[in-house]
Amino acid sequence: MTRTNVALLGFGNVGRAFVRLLSEKKALLCQRHGIGFDLRAALRSAGGVLAEAGRDSLDLAGLDREGLAAHPLFRPGLGPEAVFDGLEPGVLVECMSAHPDTGEPALSVLREAMARGWHVVTASKGPLAADLCGLRRQARTKGVVFGFSGATGAALPAADVGLRSLAGADVTSVQGILNGTTNFVLTRMGEGLDYAGALSEAQRLGIAEPDPGRDVGGWDSAVKLLILSNLFFDECRKLGDVAVEGISAATASEARRAAGRGKKLKLLARADRATGRTGLRVGPEALDARHPLYGVDGAEKGVSFATDTMGVVTVVGGRSDPRGAAAAMLKDIILAYGDRKT
Ligand SMILES: NC(=O)c1ccc[n+]([C@@H]2O[C@H](COP(=O)([O-])OP(=O)(O)OC[C@H]3O[C@@H](n4cnc5c(N)ncnc54)[C@H](OP(=O)(O)O)[C@@H]3O)[C@@H](O)[C@H]2O)c1
Repeated sequence: MTRTNVALLGFGNVGRAFVRLLSEKKALLCQRHGIGFDLRAALRSAGGVLAEAGRDSLDLAGLDREGLAAHPLFRPGLGPEAVFDGLEPGVLVECMSAHPDTGEPALSVLREAMARGWHVVTASKGPLAADLCGLRRQARTKGVVFGFSGATGAALPAADVGLRSLAGADVTSVQGILNGTTNFVLTRMGEGLDYAGALSEAQRLGIAEPDPGRDVGGWDSAVKLLILSNLFFDECRKLGDVAVEGISAATASEARRAAGRGKKLKLLARADRATGRTGLRVGPEALDARHPLYGVDGAEKGVSFATDTMGVVTVVGGRSDPRGAAAAMLKDIILAYGDRKT
């Protein structure tokens, strides 16, 4: 059985969910996929733990952030360089908080990891928005795996379907409801709530962040659209190329008007190739019942592809939380190792 070192960068919600999943799925990974993962490093911002060669792999599944800091192997100031110096290359699982526009500090670490021969999976959108093309190029050149399913809608398998299941088809447009918070708020406004009431309900239910600015402003959807569009259309566009309109208190009357006409107002992210250069747009649109994403309500997400040979293919659902994001990263690793074995 293949044994592979795993280094975890970020021990927050997603990082801890990944550690728990690795432990929970140990037998399945081994029996069904023939892969054994040894967790050898886990870093927070102020330091981390490293089990160098000769030591047992780490068992961190029961720990919270403070628990990691109190671990006997915790070293204040331990950073990625020391991990790369101390371990044979394996898989770097990156789930730290990254700047949404520059992708730093994650972007530099991903580049360094690949340069040193590590496979990389990430849940962070920032590095992908900043330089998906460069990272994919580097991964190809170095012959390493680069997985980012967790960054494009957590467990919604948007990237996989577009890249793998539609291989050979010409995708002419991608439409997505890519942000659970705005979809929840729009759904509730269509049912008669005002903007403030719908948003505070989303916050109470843990769907919306305490600061929902990037969600309601349409920027979270725009970044995901940019990543998916660059991926499917082999382009290297930037966030500034996406026309973005978010939702606000004024959208409530639009949502109610749409409901009165039997439609639903959705924050739709569109990448459209009809005009040659892909048009990228995020904004509220009233969908009628024939639209493939009409039934995607509440905090649900979905993505729909129009193709030349396979018709319209739509994927809906997938957990939109740390466990879903962690599972998407694990899936990327399993698929990558599976591909390498065949
Ligand atoms: N939460 C979700 O449902 C979800 C879903 C999909 C994707 N994502 C993405 O996944 C990433 C992580 O999300 P999260 O919710 O787990 O965030 P989080 O709870 O804020 O955790 C972030 C972790 O990164 C660590 N960190 C920050 N800067 C670091 C540095 N320079 N070096 C090493 N570690 C550093 C933090 O350290 P400290 O512990 O010291 O603060 C913390 O452990 C984000 O990019 C997010 O956008 C999240």
